[in-house]
Amino acid sequence: MKIEGNHYHTIWLKADDPNVVQVIDQRLLPHKMEVHNMTTPEEAASAIKDMVVRGAPLIGVTAAYGLYLACLHDASDESLHTAARLLKATRPTAVNLAWAVDTVMQELLGSTLNNRVERALNMAHKIKADDIEICRNIGAHGLQIIRDLYKKNQRTINILTHCNAGWLATVDWGTATSPIYQAVEEGIPIHVWVDETRPRNQGASLTAYELLQQGVPHTLIVDNAGGHLMQHGMVDMVIVGTDRTTAQGDVANKIGTYLKALAAKDNEVPFYVALPSSTIDWDLKDGVKEIPIEQRSGEEVTSIWGWTGEKIQKVQLSPEGTPAANYGFDVTPARLVTGLITERGICSASTEGLIGLFPEKAASNG
Ligand code: MRU
Repeated sequence: MKIEGNHYHTIWLKADDPNVVQVIDQRLLPHKMEVHNMTTPEEAASAIKDMVVRGAPLIGVTAAYGLYLACLHDASDESLHTAARLLKATRPTAVNLAWAVDTVMQELLGSTLNNRVERALNMAHKIKADDIEICRNIGAHGLQIIRDLYKKNQRTINILTHCNAGWLATVDWGTATSPIYQAVEEGIPIHVWVDETRPRNQGASLTAYELLQQGVPHTLIVDNAGGHLMQHGMVDMVIVGTDRTTAQGDVANKIGTYLKALAAKDNEVPFYVALPSSTIDWDLKDGVKEIPIEQRSGEEVTSIWGWTGEKIQKVQLSPEGTPAANYGFDVTPARLVTGLITERGICSASTEGLIGLFPEKAASNG
């Protein structure tokens, strides 16, 4: 995807120094485009924890490169286990993180010490390249839904999205945004309603930014506006991403997603969730009971960060001393989800639907 007309991925190896992994510092967007360097697994872990990078797929890819950085310093089993623990502990809800760490560890632990750096790098590059391809395929499948809506309505298709499940949350394309970008490429008129997504405002800062950069018509709305828009026929479909989807199709995503799904159900608006298969946690069934929900600092609720024209500044919203709770994610039960858009196709949010697309998982989910 593009920034100021130049094509970017969200993570790459520094051109003249393969010991440095670089990412876009998403804390500064949309106001400043700055590259952030990582040279150790500790720095990769901090980048994930402090949300320099965020979004389930990108967190996973960053952790994979974090293990490569660990190998550069000390490729022993002990050092790798320490780095893996550190990386996995950064954010609890997105399962792509553990998936990526386990995938790279499996590749490394059985191998001899002297080629672990190369193996780790190849693996991180592969996870990155796969993510691009997977997101492209999610887009191709999701495009079919938008095409059908356009054929039926013959007018601009209004899509509502929550948080940022765009290319900035992945390596390229995004999950929820990939069908949108591909529909726009095909010439289908699209308009996106962008939820601001308090408290960190990933919609207002990141989704609005990337849609603007790609020239996709969009309008920013407050988080509570979605229900009203749906009641008035102003939303044709909702597409969101997910941080963890259970084997029965329950979906964890940014806090507030559940309320959008309820409003969509009440107004018969299709509610789709776009996801790479690395987001499916085949070990879990009941998402409400079983998915760990990240709780973040109350400061993100009592304050807000914005651009003064020169720098990013925090201002206080609530009275000094008011306590705040900050649940990062919520779970939308499968019954509220119209369909899951994966790299292998679209299925119902159910065990049968998921197994239909991923039959190799049938044995463990029979
Ligand atoms: O807290 P964040 O910004 O990491 O949350 C991101 C989301 O909730 C996304 O919707 C989700 O990770 C899917 S990204 C393709």
